[in-house]
Amino acid sequence: MSLSISLTLNGVVRDIVLDDPRVTLLDLLRERLALPGTKKGCDRGQCGACTVLLNGKRMNACLTLAATLDGATVTTIEGLADGDALHPVQTAFLENDGFQCGYCTPGQIMSAVGLIAEGRAGDDPERIREGMSGNICRCAAYHGITRAVQEATR
Ligand code: FES
Repeated sequence: MSLSISLTLNGVVRDIVLDDPRVTLLDLLRERLALPGTKKGCDRGQCGACTVLLNGKRMNACLTLAATLDGATVTTIEGLADGDALHPVQTAFLENDGFQCGYCTPGQIMSAVGLIAEGRAGDDPERIREGMSGNICRCAAYHGITRAVQEATR
């Protein structure tokens, strides 16, 4: 049974036919829409590597069925920069060494953008760490990540 959805993805309206109504947003992005910036880590809502903004809020794409997204607005890491100009959160991660291997970085950045938009980041490292606790970094680059979020919040 196929299903049609229409969503705004990185500012562009996309009409998509889903052959499998069980496909997740994560697999749709990576395997059908050639947007591999959103990473697959655990595929079960535990690592945050797949974080995107869904209607402006942080969401794990691996836990989101694409079939539920008719009319939704989705932003991925590919939609964050403005042409060649990086988003301020991307710049803050670069300038504060907010990564090591880089695999979790798209999810960390999308989560930071969402956290700042929620007004929950602030300048307090503990508060930032709590707000970013859904995003795991296997390299433990947490110090740089926290500094980056602090700087991007200012
Ligand atoms: Fe979605 Fe880990 S891949 S939370």
